[in-house]
Amino acid sequence: MGLFITFEGLDGAGKSTQIERLHRRLTGNGKQVVLTREPGGTPVGDRLRDILLDPDQTNLSMETEVLLYAASRAQLLHEVIRPALKQNKTVLCDRYVDASLAYQGAGLGIGVDRVGSINAFATQQLKPDLTFLFDLPVQLSQTRVAYSRGRVQPDRIERRDAEYFNRVRDEFLEIARRDPARVVVLNASRPVEDLEKEIWDVVQKHLEHIEGSIETH
Ligand code: TYD
Repeated sequence: MGLFITFEGLDGAGKSTQIERLHRRLTGNGKQVVLTREPGGTPVGDRLRDILLDPDQTNLSMETEVLLYAASRAQLLHEVIRPALKQNKTVLCDRYVDASLAYQGAGLGIGVDRVGSINAFATQQLKPDLTFLFDLPVQLSQTRVAYSRGRVQPDRIERRDAEYFNRVRDEFLEIARRDPARVVVLNASRPVEDLEKEIWDVVQKHLEHIEGSIETH
């Protein structure tokens, strides 16, 4: 099985830049890499993404929201993630289950355990080997999002208030505290080059570990 790496955090944390840079480094080192994102990443998932982020969907129930994110995820696992891992490829995924635990479980107040069980079904318990959590203060996230969007309207999720995003951030940190072997917390306010290096060091260690254990078998 290939290495499965996910990236989490509030919007505006610089995830996309780092995912691209890691992708470049890995392919430069001869690795086969699949890059994907949630919600979306498949034709069905992209349609679900349109619904989930559409600001005109003002009457989507919380339950529907959780299930649509989980449905997009289940399809992505089926079409993209599992096949790639089976072919020993490295999978880089922009957001995964932790996003639902934080944004829906904690943010909407549905409960992390309830959202966790729905996602256990959707993913058949497939967990990432490694997760990078890009942590930054909510205010900074909101300023960066507003700046990068310019005149483009915020999506349905971005319209939520600072209290909501504080619950999301706190839950991400709580997830990291519960699972320190998997989740690496990054201070997303640091310079891009520093973050890139830190991420690369961690990924290299994981790859060496995997390759080392294959050689000893
Ligand atoms: P993202 O692709 O990061 O947004 P953008 O293209 O604007 O950078 O994610 C879309 C939004 O969906 C983001 O605000 C986080 C939210 N989200 C959830 O609420 N729950 C989830 O399970 C996932 C995967 C994303």
